[in-house]
Amino acid sequence: MGGKVTVVGAGFYGSTTALRLAEYNIFDTVVLTDIVEGKPEGLALDMNQSRSIEGFETKIIGATTSPEGAGYEATANSDVVVITAGLPRKPGMSRMDLIGVNAGIVRGVAENIAKHSPNAVIIVVSNPLDEMTALAQIATKFPKNRVMGQAGMLDTARFTNFVAEKLNVKVGSVKTLTLGSHGDTMVPVPSRCTVDGKPLSDLLSQVEIDELVDRTRNGGAEVVALLKTGSAYYAPSAAAARMAKAVIEDSGAVMPVCAWVDGEYGISGVYLGVEAQIGRSGIKKVVESKLTDSEVEALKAAAEAVRAKQADVQTL
Ligand code: LAC
Repeated sequence: MGGKVTVVGAGFYGSTTALRLAEYNIFDTVVLTDIVEGKPEGLALDMNQSRSIEGFETKIIGATTSPEGAGYEATANSDVVVITAGLPRKPGMSRMDLIGVNAGIVRGVAENIAKHSPNAVIIVVSNPLDEMTALAQIATKFPKNRVMGQAGMLDTARFTNFVAEKLNVKVGSVKTLTLGSHGDTMVPVPSRCTVDGKPLSDLLSQVEIDELVDRTRNGGAEVVALLKTGSAYYAPSAAAARMAKAVIEDSGAVMPVCAWVDGEYGISGVYLGVEAQIGRSGIKKVVESKLTDSEVEALKAAAEAVRAKQADVQTL
């Protein structure tokens, strides 16, 4: 056990992530912050009271913070920081509709975090994901490998679940991969989708696969439409927590994440969903795997779509 992780934002996404991280029992401390006075402290108190039942020693600390930076001392010298701050979508909204309001929130949080935890690895989950990840890097001025975003693991997990349900097989036998953006230009990678090692295309028709891809691309919106207030958090928090675990354990696990791409697949200078090896330094390496020509073309199109938006966040 060792290390400190901060989760910024004590909404459903943040609080679920904090509890998952605590239950791993690998960190000394999980800090949960929010601007709503008393909320992170109350949630931390409640979570700590579950420790003897669930059998974990990690201590959870709640801290109310202000946008001006009050309260951030509690986060000092974190090894990993998960930024969930910002508004979630309401039914009918796209992730991009959040860019204006969330940019202000994420920029302020990132600046305060950088001041108190200059060596942290940052995992961004606020939406629109690819743009907020780029913004967090700009605001922290951290090396690009130390700032990444969570999306690919979530999209992949959704796709995997839909395939398993469709074929009525165990989720453990299904492998899928999605790259690109966390949005309209999500790129499914059929050549890397298998069930018990068999290509997905041997088991489902193209029309059926396309339906599952579509449902995955709209996976977040489907949950938002049902919940009506707020967006998904169980699967998203599972993905973010696994990334933080890979960082603190320096595991070198390869995961689909939003990472700075610098020449891989012929794409440069953009935060994009790719596979990467995760460890104490953040992104140890973007892993370029063999894709078909049409998959590479789709990835390039996704890169160009998010590049334009990421240029916009500089001024937000
Ligand atoms: C989703 C949000 C968290 O996809 O982006 O559910």
